[in-house]
Amino acid sequence: MLRCDSLERLDGAARCHDANSSKMPAPKITAESIRAMKARGEKIPALTAYDFPMARLLDEVGIPLLLVGDSLGMVVLGYPDTTRVTMAEMEHHVRAAARAKPRALVVADLPYGCYDTLESAVTNARRLILAGAEAVKAEGGREILPQVQAIISSGIPFLGHLGMLPQHVLEEGGYHVKGKNEPEHQALLADADALVKAGAFAIVLELVIPRVAKELTQRLPIPTIGIGAGPDCDGQILVTPDLLGMLPWYSLKHVKPKLNAAEQMRSVVKEWKESVEA
Ligand code: KIV
Repeated sequence: MLRCDSLERLDGAARCHDANSSKMPAPKITAESIRAMKARGEKIPALTAYDFPMARLLDEVGIPLLLVGDSLGMVVLGYPDTTRVTMAEMEHHVRAAARAKPRALVVADLPYGCYDTLESAVTNARRLILAGAEAVKAEGGREILPQVQAIISSGIPFLGHLGMLPQHVLEEGGYHVKGKNEPEHQALLADADALVKAGAFAIVLELVIPRVAKELTQRLPIPTIGIGAGPDCDGQILVTPDLLGMLPWYSLKHVKPKLNAAEQMRSVVKEWKESVEA
């Protein structure tokens, strides 16, 4: 008899399979598998997950890359931007997402101010790995190259992040699209080339104008994963609560929610409240 329920409840997203069945669980996705998807011409859908149920749900749908992003600060913790997120907060949420034991690659963001030196970059990247991440992401190109090299030399897979860098919101006075002028265009090419040379397995391109995102995608041997960077990247990433319409208090140009989760939750809770009150 197949006793799938108890196994799955005990063991996160462990795949349940009948001893008589020839079905093998699909192999774990690694940074190398994500990188190889580009060579095979496979598109890469990626989403953020900050806790156990979301990581498990997204994994069950087959999303290959789950990012415990520092967008956590804004969409879960209620901070005005990502610059207040701490290592302790990131570790707490990486642990929760990793408990889902997803087949997907779990990537965690190094928070603001936590990779300013070689030592802090490697120490904090290791902390995220110990919490359950399988790769780390940090924002920037040539200006953080020594830290990226040190992280990769310590054996930790690295996901780059170029274009609009949310951790720079205070110094840049807002969130600005990148690649519009020639100096920005050239800087993006040089930063991307440097990250490839350092050994990044993929690069997130955030709010890069579509023409430049397309050029980078054609130029680089590793995948580009776009957010608000047009349709021509090798993959796309979104902040999951934005996709699900869980945050009705603001709207973004680059995401049209596919569900009105906030409104549905309000309506269900209201109905239940009224049933109790009656
Ligand atoms: O923190 C985050 O969620 C991110 C994505 C927007 C790429 O960095």
